[in-house]
Amino acid sequence: MKRPVKRVVFYLGVALLVVAGVMAGRDLMAPKGWQVDVPSSRTQGAALIGGPFTLVDHTGKAVTEADFRGRFMFIYFGFTYCPDACPTALTAMAEALDIIGPAADRIVPVLISIDPERDTPEQLAMYVRHFHPSLVGLTGSADQVAAAAKAFRVYYAKAKEEGSDEGDYTMDHTSIIYLMGPDGKFRVHFSGHATSPEDLAKGILDVL
Ligand code: NI
Repeated sequence: MKRPVKRVVFYLGVALLVVAGVMAGRDLMAPKGWQVDVPSSRTQGAALIGGPFTLVDHTGKAVTEADFRGRFMFIYFGFTYCPDACPTALTAMAEALDIIGPAADRIVPVLISIDPERDTPEQLAMYVRHFHPSLVGLTGSADQVAAAAKAFRVYYAKAKEEGSDEGDYTMDHTSIIYLMGPDGKFRVHFSGHATSPEDLAKGILDVL
């Protein structure tokens, strides 16, 4: 009688391990709760998302949120070594701006690195130009990046295989695209990996 029970417990254990493995998957798997915090309506979000930050752009210049006042900021937090989610999101953002056309001149697309260790201004400069001529890359010290991510409720963490080299790691991170208004206040957000360029463009035009 005991054996079948043991077997069930064993299989449950295996199932849990599989689930845990999937949860630990790269990029999109922020712990539950983080994304729940992101408000779904503009009015709700205004006070919750965004805020002051001090970072360094891909030309090496120190910038703050005030430098972007007067233009919409189209923001994604990611990193240049990202194999999948970041290129997908940045490509969609660039295509959305192309769809919008001349009105997109009022929007600055921004990649804020959550991997400042590897994403130097030089590294960002090489990377951003592959996506869009107006894409701005931002990085900074570990503390500056942490403060910016916190302001935008973005989760990120280094993910390293056991026994791998020091520089050999990837980053788990929230994949959300934010649109901030010319006043620096939150307008709307989109899923970074599951929104088509057309839907992004539509969502932006709604609030432009
Ligand atoms: Ni990524």
